[in-house]
Amino acid sequence: MPDYRVSPLVQELPATVPFVGPETQERNQGSLFKARIGANESVFGPSPNAIQAMADAASESWMYGDPEFHDLREDLAAHHQVESGNIMVGEGIDGMLGYVARMFLQPGDTVVTSAGAYPTFNYHVNGYGGKLEFVPYRDDREDLDALIQKATQLQARLIYVSNPDNPMGSWWDAQSIESITKQIPENCLLILDEAYGEFAPPGTLPPLDLDNQRLLRMRTFSKAYGLAGMRVGYAIGNAELILEFNKIRNHFGVGRVAQAAARAALKDQAHLQRVLTQVNNSLETIKEIAVENGLMPLPTASNFLTIDCGKDGAFAAALMQSLIGKGIFVRMPGVSPLNRCIRITAGLPEELQILAETLPKVLEEVRKSF
Ligand SMILES: Cc1ncc(COP(=O)(O)O)c(C=O)c1O
Repeated sequence: MPDYRVSPLVQELPATVPFVGPETQERNQGSLFKARIGANESVFGPSPNAIQAMADAASESWMYGDPEFHDLREDLAAHHQVESGNIMVGEGIDGMLGYVARMFLQPGDTVVTSAGAYPTFNYHVNGYGGKLEFVPYRDDREDLDALIQKATQLQARLIYVSNPDNPMGSWWDAQSIESITKQIPENCLLILDEAYGEFAPPGTLPPLDLDNQRLLRMRTFSKAYGLAGMRVGYAIGNAELILEFNKIRNHFGVGRVAQAAARAALKDQAHLQRVLTQVNNSLETIKEIAVENGLMPLPTASNFLTIDCGKDGAFAAALMQSLIGKGIFVRMPGVSPLNRCIRITAGLPEELQILAETLPKVLEEVRKSF
C-alpha cells in the first residue's frame, strides 16, 4: 500500500497517456525517427515572424505571461470579427478540453462521443468521473444525428464532435454541423473541435453563433500555424459561457513566449496560405505513394491522410509497427473498424522520399504474415 492517499476517482484510473509520444518511442528504440509524420504537427513550421517574436520574447521570459491574454484575445477577436469576451485562450485545445470537463461534469454524468474519436477528450472525461457513451462512426464519419439522439436519450452533459475529424480526416459541411448545433439537448454542451479547421474546404466551418449557450468551438495554433510545442489554443463562444473558464482555469498556463508566438503567427496569414499549399502538395504525394502500393487513401480535410490498408486492425498495426521500426513515425486509429487504417501526416519532401522507399519493402514483409 502506498504511503499517500489519492482520491477514490484517481485510484481507479489507469496511469496511461492517451498518446505515446514519438520521443518515448525513440528512447525505446534507441534511435531517432527519420520521418516524423505521425502526430499531425506541421513540419512546415511556424511563420518566421513567429520565430522572431519568440526570440524577442525569450529575454522577457522571467515575467509571467498576461493572465488575461489581453492582446492575443484582441487579435483573435478582430480575426474572427467577434468581441474579445467571446474568446478564451488556454494550453492548447487539450488543456481546454480538460477545463470544459471540469466545468460541466460531476462524477457519473454522461458524455457522448464517437467510438474511436480523439482520445484526449476521453482522458479528461475519465479524470472528472464522467461516464463515456460511444456512437459508432458511419461510413468513416462521425454520425451527427446518432450523437444528438444518444445525448438526448441519456441526458448527456457533453457531446464531442471534431470537424474535420481526427483520426479519419473526414468532415461534414457547415449546414450539417449547424443543424446539430440547433438540436443540442437542454443542460448539454456541444464541444465542436475545429483543430483542423484551417485545412478544410470552404463551406466546412459554420458561421459563429455567439447566442448559442450550448456550443463551444475550439481552435488551435498547433496545426496549420505550426506551433504545437508552444501550447496555445482557444475557445470561441457566448460571452457568458466563456466567462465560466475564469472560475477554474490556470491563469498563467500560457506563457509569455507562447502568447507572442501566437500573435505573430496569426498576423502572418500569407505564411498560413503557403503552409496550406505545402500540405496539399504533400498529401497528394502521400496519396500517390499509397495507391502505388495498393492501399486506399480516404478523402481528407486535414493535414493528414488516413489510409485504408484493406485488411483488419492486426494488419494495419503490423504495418504501422514495421514503419516505426524503420524510423517512420506514423499512427493509426484505435478502434474497429477504423483501425483497418494507418494515418500519415503531411511531411517534407525528404520524409516522403523515405516513405516511398520504405513502404513497398515493409508491405511485402507484412503481407507475408497475413
Ligand atoms: C481533434 C484534435 N483536437 C485537438 C488536438 C490537440 O490540439 P492542441 O495541440 O491545441 O492541444 C488534436 C491534436 O492532434 C486533435 O487531433
